[in-house]
Amino acid sequence: MKVLLLGSGGREHALAWKIAQSSILDELYIAPGNAGTKQHGKNVAISPTDFEGIKNFVIENAIEMVIVGPEEPLVNGIFDFFQTDEKLRKVPVIGPSKFGAQLEGSKDFAKAFMARHKIPTAKYGTFTAETLNEGMKFLEGMKPPYVLKADGLAAGKGVLILKDLSEAKSELKSMLQHQKFGAASSKVVIEQFLDGIELSVFVITDGESFKLLPEAKDYKRIGEGDTGLNTGGMGAISPVPFADSGFMDKVHNRIIVPTVKGLKTEGISYKGFIFFGLINVKGDPYVIEYNCRMGDPETEVVIPRLKSDILDLFEGVASNTLSERDIQFIDKSAATVMMVSGGYPEAYEKGKSIYGLNTIAESIVFHAGTSADGPSIVSSGGRVLTVTSYGKNVETALEKSYESISKIKFEGAYYRKDIGYDVI
Ligand code: AMP
Ligand code: GLY
Repeated sequence: MKVLLLGSGGREHALAWKIAQSSILDELYIAPGNAGTKQHGKNVAISPTDFEGIKNFVIENAIEMVIVGPEEPLVNGIFDFFQTDEKLRKVPVIGPSKFGAQLEGSKDFAKAFMARHKIPTAKYGTFTAETLNEGMKFLEGMKPPYVLKADGLAAGKGVLILKDLSEAKSELKSMLQHQKFGAASSKVVIEQFLDGIELSVFVITDGESFKLLPEAKDYKRIGEGDTGLNTGGMGAISPVPFADSGFMDKVHNRIIVPTVKGLKTEGISYKGFIFFGLINVKGDPYVIEYNCRMGDPETEVVIPRLKSDILDLFEGVASNTLSERDIQFIDKSAATVMMVSGGYPEAYEKGKSIYGLNTIAESIVFHAGTSADGPSIVSSGGRVLTVTSYGKNVETALEKSYESISKIKFEGAYYRKDIGYDVI
């Protein structure tokens, strides 16, 4: 099979690494990819949101499957773009329709969907500039801390958690009236604060059945002990110790099954990954958010734990035969630790030469923001690379990752030394 993978982060490097191991792969292209994905296929300089560019490439190169890594092309409707084009209709896209991608693209859509299907989530209200006053009253009726969410995609920055009522009111006003997050905050979801510990659960679905993937926990803050600014993610572990069978049964019965069934009964076309951002509140799971794609850096621990051929699963998704496919996992834990550019998630410098990559034997290095500069590899983003290791448990996997990371150098490099601290 000739496959085109869209995206350029650590998630896409991990997917490319796995796809390259498939017995049914003929050729893998990654658009645009990074210096790491190049080890597993050919990078092509097309943006994942350039649908016309993707179309031309798919036709010229007789691509037989398109796998979408990031959310933006999905929310923009790449699935529908293929479905409605005479020349592209037969090429399956792994990812939901534009309507289905609203599970991530619109917080209000996701909350209303959960309400319709009685899926446990925080109580909420949705407000616009026209209903600002009602929003203020709604806030007055809630207990602190106050959770405000921009409805649309805001690059992971659209959620504010505020201790003080007057601050919450002024932020609500700035989101709705002054477009603090642009068009993304023309609607705002105000939510009850849930106190618990978070984890990420993933399924792949063909719209009829689904397969559960290993769960993971990511570490979003820049600072140790989960302090400081939010990032794309600084590390991840899998499995998650508190996600025992009792807890996962609740996740399955209360959340996953009603979600997949709900999509089907509402006639929402969804063939791809569903990422459930969950919170464990005293043993009960609640949905914090849905994403219409895999997580990053969760993919860098989840996909290495998958034993089965990933293209076989994707074929099952494309042909509505996922239920007939076998899925197996590697009976080991995995951990990943992200190396980032100094200053990230605020201003940082790029173009720093990375040393020591060839010395790593005990771990897998997934590139997140790198590019090739002649024979050398340089940083090209805030999150630069992530070091994944296996172990008999999460602790030993982390030890290996930290050992490997100590051999990799670039100017200004930073990483958290406490990944997994709260669960091991
Ligand atoms: P989201 O983009 O919806 O995942 O929100 C970003 C982060 O804000 C989450 O990972 C949580 O840590 C936090 N968060 C979001 N909603 C809530 C909530 N209702 N209660 C507590 N924390 C929340
Ligand atoms: N690691 C969280 C995300 O991918 O959204």
